Amino acid sequence: MNAQIAVIKGDGIGPEIVTEALKILDKVSEKFGHHFEYVPVLMGGCSIDATGVPLTDEAIETCKKSDAVLLGAIGGDTTTSPWYKLDPSLRPEAGLLKLRKALGLFANIRPAYLYKELKAACPLKDEIIGDGFDMVIMRELTGGLYFGDRKTVQENGVLKAYDSLTYDENEIRRIAVKGFETAMKRKKHVTSVDKANVLDSSRLWRKVVDEVAKDYPEVTYEHMLVDNCAMQLVKDPRQFDVILTENMFGDILSDEASEVTGSIGMLSSASLCETSLGLYEPSHGSAPDIAGTDQANPLATILSAAMLLRYSLNLDAEADAVEAAVQKTLEDGYRTVDIQDGKGKLVGCKAMGDAVAERI
Ligand code: IPM
Ligand code: MG
Repeated sequence: MNAQIAVIKGDGIGPEIVTEALKILDKVSEKFGHHFEYVPVLMGGCSIDATGVPLTDEAIETCKKSDAVLLGAIGGDTTTSPWYKLDPSLRPEAGLLKLRKALGLFANIRPAYLYKELKAACPLKDEIIGDGFDMVIMRELTGGLYFGDRKTVQENGVLKAYDSLTYDENEIRRIAVKGFETAMKRKKHVTSVDKANVLDSSRLWRKVVDEVAKDYPEVTYEHMLVDNCAMQLVKDPRQFDVILTENMFGDILSDEASEVTGSIGMLSSASLCETSLGLYEPSHGSAPDIAGTDQANPLATILSAAMLLRYSLNLDAEADAVEAAVQKTLEDGYRTVDIQDGKGKLVGCKAMGDAVAERI
């Protein structure tokens, strides 16, 4: 297969982790006889430095014309980086939000899976972990608070900020369908998370999810309030299969879910639209404090590349091979510094990438 992949290395540890993911894609193409063409695209702080804006129209066009987009991470230290002195619409994160909107990437899939090798890195007690857990967070990605109208005004000499949380029923329906479809391929259970005891947008969310659920009689589902869900994730994570939720709740809960898997450096993600185009990125950030030190964990990006093979290029065997190689690498004891289970051999980003590549 010939495929064009737009590659956004981004900021901080982005270039290091993406380099390792490309090493893996190269190994896959060599082994399975594919040709992947990588087209570099600037986004985030590096784009601000080069062009004055976090994402150019040209960059969006390149992504649209590609079969898939692979992203490292964007952004810098929000207290010290000059990027955060700019108008909010010109900061690194604005580039990512713009790209998600421009490509219509409404469905963000974040799997949180506890590798048995990483049990000791999980901060939860053994009796809670049991035989491990395996869930997917289905996060709505182009609506809600992150895209609503916002402004800061001065009223009677007092500064006041507004952010609006809006969803229409179609936006809720399409992500709910993705959530139930995903559950059908898994353990057939959906936990729809909202704050319906307070928010109108959540009450609409519940109503639409109830309607969608009727088309999936085999799937059991329940509604859960987001504050309770945050608690249940550490109290009994094994109860979850698919967590279906809106943009901000999904942002927060996915960080929590990743931490209970042992390290946020392990959590991959896919952002999908109505076509096969998708954007694949680790769920973690750009970690500017360790950038350039070869300490970053490239596994979340490598696992995101596996999702790219599976969802955008329809290459299941190749995706399986990458996931199996990651599993084997962990079994063989390789650990980056973020995986604190006190076991195995501590390696840097490059050596971790090499170890996975050797196992494909
Ligand atoms: C994420 C990140 C982004 C988000 C930021 C960088 C805008 O936290 O992908 O989880 O909130 O969506
Ligand atoms: Mg986040």
